[in-house]
Amino acid sequence: MPNTKATAIAHPNIAFIKYWGNRDDVLRLPSNGSISMNLDGLTTKTRVEFSPLFKEDSLILNHKKHSGPALERVRAFLDLIRSMANKNLYSEVTSENNFPISAGIASSAAAFAALALAATKAIGSNLSEAELSRLARHGSGSACRSIPDGFVEWNYGDQDENSYAESIAPAASWDLVDCIALIATGHKKVSSTAGHRFADTSPLQTARVQDASRRLGICRSAIIKKDFQLLAEIIELDSNLMHAVMMTSKPPLFYWEPQTLEVMRAVRNWRAQGIPACYTLDAGPNVHVICLSSVSEKIKNNLEQMDFVQRLIIAKPGSGAFLLDN
Ligand code: PMV
Repeated sequence: MPNTKATAIAHPNIAFIKYWGNRDDVLRLPSNGSISMNLDGLTTKTRVEFSPLFKEDSLILNHKKHSGPALERVRAFLDLIRSMANKNLYSEVTSENNFPISAGIASSAAAFAALALAATKAIGSNLSEAELSRLARHGSGSACRSIPDGFVEWNYGDQDENSYAESIAPAASWDLVDCIALIATGHKKVSSTAGHRFADTSPLQTARVQDASRRLGICRSAIIKKDFQLLAEIIELDSNLMHAVMMTSKPPLFYWEPQTLEVMRAVRNWRAQGIPACYTLDAGPNVHVICLSSVSEKIKNNLEQMDFVQRLIIAKPGSGAFLLDN
């Protein structure tokens, strides 16, 4: 049997309407739908080779061979792909990011989107975009949103088959910029996989989930109409709601640092002065400052003047996952 290999690229994404908490943790069926933007320029490139000569699965991540939990998570995901294709071959997975994976950018989204595409191609399964998105979801929920292009909505669905993401507007449709301000922190964060399991312990989660379809509707229409003010208000509200749930869960999860709040306040002041910028935060202290490209240089300069900002990463709307010719 011939060796089969494929290489794919995927971008991480930043959620505008957040996913936090699952109705089913094993299948990663989320408590609510979510909307995100893929981040161009930040890439995960993953090469997968299946071969009858391999005696076990192996994982090389950023030039380092991994065993333990990282390999286990990849192996469980490959098992899904092997059983779908009805093939019993081990594989070699080699993956590289061009952005720091400890930087609080959702690296698992890009990782499992690239792995889903490369591994299914390498094993000979040709999946539709929806099927790929659904598969990527099993690796990391937000990975399903890194499969389609640009601005993406994950319809939460009520079962495995209909919980996947679709593009709601192409990357080129709106010249937004994400200026990611990396804030120094010595704390080890609670992973999102662990955090989702605590969401329902917060008395605020029910209210957050019940109001989600209203927020999704506003965010979707802000993206389609390119209405920045509408977008700004809804994504700040949504980020605050998710962090309110995190802070009131058991155990409470405080991802913010004092400097996080300082950036958030500055961004609100800039907007009050007429600068089209707003903030959103994932499960970490770093602030994603979303702005129109016309003011991105100004925002960059403003953030650079804050001496606690360790590093700035700038990203435009990105494409969905794609294959490279081997
Ligand atoms: O896909 P996960 O398990 O890494 O969860 C992502 C959680 C957030 O980034 C906080 C929100 C989101 O919707 O991306």
